[in-house]
Amino acid sequence: MSNKSIMDKGRQYIMNTYGRIPIALVKGEGSRVWDADGKEYLDLVGGIAVCALGHAHPELTAVLRDQSEKLWHCSNLYWIEPQVELAAKLCQSTGMDKAFFANSGAEANEGAIKLARKYFYRQGQNRYQIIACRNSFHGRTTGALAATGQTKYQQGFEPLLPGIEFAEFNNLESVKALLTDKTCGILVEPIQGEGGVNPATVEFMTGLKRICQETGALLMLDEVQCGVGRTGDMMAFQYYGITPDIVTLAKGLGGGFPIGALLATDEAASGFGPGDHASTFGGNPLGCAVAHRVVEIISEPDFLAQVKNISDYMQEKLEQIVLKNNRASGLRGRGLLLGIEFSAEVKDLVDICRGNGLLLLSAGPRVLRFVPPLNITESEVDEALNRLEQSLQDWK
Ligand SMILES: Cc1ncc(COP(=O)(O)O)c(C=O)c1O
Repeated sequence: MSNKSIMDKGRQYIMNTYGRIPIALVKGEGSRVWDADGKEYLDLVGGIAVCALGHAHPELTAVLRDQSEKLWHCSNLYWIEPQVELAAKLCQSTGMDKAFFANSGAEANEGAIKLARKYFYRQGQNRYQIIACRNSFHGRTTGALAATGQTKYQQGFEPLLPGIEFAEFNNLESVKALLTDKTCGILVEPIQGEGGVNPATVEFMTGLKRICQETGALLMLDEVQCGVGRTGDMMAFQYYGITPDIVTLAKGLGGGFPIGALLATDEAASGFGPGDHASTFGGNPLGCAVAHRVVEIISEPDFLAQVKNISDYMQEKLEQIVLKNNRASGLRGRGLLLGIEFSAEVKDLVDICRGNGLLLLSAGPRVLRFVPPLNITESEVDEALNRLEQSLQDWK
């Protein structure tokens, strides 16, 4: 089928919830993808920070094939070996103690909200309030949506889950002003992804940790976009020298296979007992087998060091592009979660890049976001940024 015939059929049968780009991707290999008309692109979107090891990584394909011939699904009624192995590997490489597996980022965040509330309920304390941040993004399910500090996503879905208040990101005083004896958790992204690639400051994150230690509230980090090696550390929180009580993962965890996870300290995890939380597909053998290999590869110190190297290389080149372009006001982010802010909306620029064989996306209207595979090479970065420079010249 051609791009057009896929699009036409899709318009007829797919619900109209996405403002879709008019191409259909049909093949990927490493940092490259091809559309149904055979056009090749360098992919710096990677399924929005999902394809952490690029497309069709041979080791992941082999693990998936191997597991698919053994067991696809059996339910959490039983112990699942790949799930247990993944939990152990994740806990060992992040410093957390226990895992719960879900299917997506939103679902992982639902679990986090439930865990924080149930933790205090089990102690006989009526603490239910969650402090989240403005401009955050935690997902589209109703609980995660209620914690998302952007009204454009919430409009028309009210009444939302009660008990969630919004503080200003990177402003400790505004968090303190919302604290009450009902606060059970503080939920924050170490780098706001959808909100525009905004990193939390060291003062903010260490301050939140201090507040949580003083009040007993649980520090809940959403690392759905910025976790699993994306920043050059296994977890984004490691940069701040803190550990959370609860952290959520998804996106890069399965390298493209849908899986989400909720990790917690033993203490926080004690909030859940049998029957408190569940998911039919969560932690299924296929997803866990793939994610286990993803985590094994990414958590290697040499791999993470290379993410930092390629990030430095890319940032140096992007800084030069920013300096040369009078509409670009600055580069921000960490590792391979980077954004350039422009004085104009970047939608047309994204379209021009696509025409020039480069897939990028926005983060909010004026930020161009770069979330390439973590194993992208220097020569692929060079090629991608040449296509970007050409596109900036074509952007009138
Ligand atoms: C930080 C963060 N949390 C949660 C989500 C929701 O994840 P999902 O789309 O897998 O439900 C996203 C998705 O962009 C995200 O960036």
